[in-house]
Amino acid sequence: MTLQTSLAAEAGVGTPILEVKSLCKAFPLPNGGTLEACKEVSWSLWRGESLGIVGESGCGKSTLMKMIMRMLEPTSGEIYLDGVRMGKASGKEAREQRRKIQMVFQDSSQAFDPRMTVADIICEPLYNFGLLKRGETLAIATRYLDMVGLDGSFAKRYPHEMSGGQRQRVAIARALVLEPDIIVFDEATSALDVSVQDAIAKLLVKLQKEKNLTYLFVAHDIAFIRSMCHRVVVMYYGEVVEEVAAKHLTEAKHPYTRKLLSAVFEVTPERKRVVR
Ligand SMILES: Nc1ncnc2c1ncn2[C@@H]1O[C@H](COP(=O)(O)OP(=O)(O)OP(=O)(O)O)[C@@H](O)[C@H]1O
Ligand SMILES: [Mg+2]
Repeated sequence: MTLQTSLAAEAGVGTPILEVKSLCKAFPLPNGGTLEACKEVSWSLWRGESLGIVGESGCGKSTLMKMIMRMLEPTSGEIYLDGVRMGKASGKEAREQRRKIQMVFQDSSQAFDPRMTVADIICEPLYNFGLLKRGETLAIATRYLDMVGLDGSFAKRYPHEMSGGQRQRVAIARALVLEPDIIVFDEATSALDVSVQDAIAKLLVKLQKEKNLTYLFVAHDIAFIRSMCHRVVVMYYGEVVEEVAAKHLTEAKHPYTRKLLSAVFEVTPERKRVVR
């Protein structure tokens, strides 16, 4: 299920939907020093594209995503959404920027209130944005459950009454309900078994095509990243060391990327295909 690189991204034409420019994040250390979790990170993402961010544990991937989600303030650098600088907009525009980017976490259900039904969980973002009308919850939840391949009867369940895969589908439905342009997935399918991960991957590709969604994936599973993404950004100790089209990932030149690939890929010569 390899996606084609979008022409806009390949040619770099038009305004990127998301652009990070020289983004830095330094955390203060107890000894008075600083830890530079992200150093001068720059890349662009075009509408309808999927970008993968890979790199070893602690290289700054989640820090980068949190800055994009405005959960962390950058030390320096800029983020542009549709050409508008994030964090500088006020009032209505800032809310609109927040609506446009949604995130699915590794175990989103941890963030679910165990006392809330699935219908309320899915519709909560609408409620928070003042966009939910009285009596609409069940109908909206059913529509979004259907979108993620779950029966409408799930609307009345509680988080503990579902499998991990079903909970991640609910998390995706919740991320979709505000009709965002961009969805960030930080290890969102890592905890799931391979068959559930594949089913969710197919669902995400389908939704992307239907809604012209833009995806940002952080994952340790390079095979997953390669199958889902158009381009891949490789990070190492807070820096971007390589940016490569996913279809050319196995030919990447940077020594660190090669190391990362060799740790994950095993090529079976007789079948000439990449296996996990
Ligand atoms: N709030 C914080 N305060 C201090 N240091 C932090 C904070 N958040 C992250 N760090 C440090 O910043 C570095 C990057 O962390 P980050 O979570 O971005 O890594 P990651 O690439 O997402 O790793 P993983 O693949 O394990 O999720 C790490 O050394 C981490 O300990
Ligand atoms: Mg992380």
